[in-house]
Amino acid sequence: MSDSPISEHNGQGSTKSQDQNPSNEQKTQMEQAYRELQRKMRIAKLGEDIKHKILVLSGKGGVGKSTVATGLAISLAKKGMKVGLMDIDITGPNVPKMLGLDKTDLTVENGQIFPAIGPYGLKVISMAFLIEDPDKPVIWRGPIKLGAIQQFIGDVAWGKLDALIVDFPPGTSDEPLTVSQHLPGIDGVVIVTTPQEVALLDSRKSINFAKTISVPVIGVVENMSGYSIKGKGEPNSLVSLIGPEGVPIESKCDEEGNWSMTLDLFKKGGGRLAANELEVPYLGSLPFDPGIVRGGDDGVHRIVAEPEGETAIAFDYIVNNITNSLDEDSSTTLKII
Ligand SMILES: Nc1ncnc2c1ncn2[C@@H]1O[C@H](COP(=O)(O)OP(=O)(O)O)[C@@H](O)[C@H]1O
Ligand SMILES: [Mg+2]
Repeated sequence: MSDSPISEHNGQGSTKSQDQNPSNEQKTQMEQAYRELQRKMRIAKLGEDIKHKILVLSGKGGVGKSTVATGLAISLAKKGMKVGLMDIDITGPNVPKMLGLDKTDLTVENGQIFPAIGPYGLKVISMAFLIEDPDKPVIWRGPIKLGAIQQFIGDVAWGKLDALIVDFPPGTSDEPLTVSQHLPGIDGVVIVTTPQEVALLDSRKSINFAKTISVPVIGVVENMSGYSIKGKGEPNSLVSLIGPEGVPIESKCDEEGNWSMTLDLFKKGGGRLAANELEVPYLGSLPFDPGIVRGGDDGVHRIVAEPEGETAIAFDYIVNNITNSLDEDSSTTLKII
């Protein structure tokens, strides 16, 4: 690096006494260079210390990227894997809130940051931990933001992990670009979308981005996919309802009189359609679940509150699809489209 403190100092014909008694400024530069070197060595080791690295992306905000990133991480950890979750959303880092964690759960030792520990031993690091007042909007200039990301990658004691999941802010490609330049051996990206028709447009953006950083697409997840309702009626009778947009829907009660229906609140199938059209795998869908919103507020994640519930099962299904595709091609990683 031409602007490195070391190269500035070299070959400047400095006198002997200067070399023997470096100024404070020189000392700071040397320390900085040493820290930089240590960070580079740690980052190089991450390639083998963290088996799989997955980036969670979406074409726009509010589609549930953080919800999916957090859910995937917990679902993997629930399977007994060692998992890390890195939240680099400075504008709205809500991952700790979803997990009931805050910065007091972090520890620093020998210049390394030890992540907060969430459910099932999940290791969590979030931009939220660096922000003084979570209610104040943060405006960080580009270089500071990118420096913080490099520290998140290089100065965090992740230890040996089976998987690291990375959550990003919406609507910008700066952060994923920096991560892709510094995190070695990224397996691929998971794209989160919603069931509406615009899903195709949004997913295409993420896929094009994955191409530009030469990272494979693991697949598409459709979030807020349908809302399940249940009830009781006469055994074996028909129950009919007026669903979204006035469309009647019917369900038959079973022998005990139980019935269930799925209401497609935001249309249906945008994610699968987008995956088919863009020729990438479809990983599955997540239901619209008011418990996810509640969990985001009270810090008890839906999967933790109800490990056998519909949302937890949906996450398990998606995670199985992801781990299968990683196992199939773990030596060379997935195909770059
Ligand atoms: N499947 C879901 N069911 C119900 N609410 C959801 C679901 N997924 C996300 N949400 C809610 O939608 C909002 C946005 O989700 P979030 O994960 O923060 O999106 P993003 O990270 O893409 O901006 C949050 O309030 C979250 O609780
Ligand atoms: Mg988010």
